[in-house]
Amino acid sequence: MKIKILIAIFIAFLTGCTEEKGTNSNSPLAVDTLSFASDIMPIFEAHCIECHGELWPDGDYDMTSYDMVINSGLHAPNVIPGKPDSSYLIHVISPDDTTGHDGPYPQTTVIEPIYTWIDQGALNN
Ligand code: HEC
Repeated sequence: MKIKILIAIFIAFLTGCTEEKGTNSNSPLAVDTLSFASDIMPIFEAHCIECHGELWPDGDYDMTSYDMVINSGLHAPNVIPGKPDSSYLIHVISPDDTTGHDGPYPQTTVIEPIYTWIDQGALNN
């Protein structure tokens, strides 16, 4: 019983963080259509491009443009529009990654917008 309450508090905490730190502050993430250019690319720039830049992209995976995010690397397409759970990109950065990814496993507040963007069709908007 106590554990259930703790889990509920934890989920409420995560949700609260997402709303406060959401990349689009106008309204909650779940309702907004996220923008690749203004919501998602800044996340990649902050967390990924140091290793997945243009010149020497790790794993041949260049994340500097929409097309390259989807189509470069050895496991392209890395993003399946509308199917975040089948998208290699999400798999690689999630805590249950089985590829042994050399990069970080970002916090939920980072993964969640990327997950939502793919869920909304991975638009190039
Ligand atoms: C510290 C360096 C580093 C960072 C930061 C990093 N990665 Fe990587 N990534 C790697 C390396 C090295 C590989 C290739 C081998 C492996 O899987 O570790 C790779 C491979 C990948 C692949 C598979 C490419 C392929 O087709 O084989 C994906 C997808 C990926 N990274 C996504 C990301 C995302 C998304 C981020 C940001 C949230 C990120 N990485 C941040 C080092 C990094």
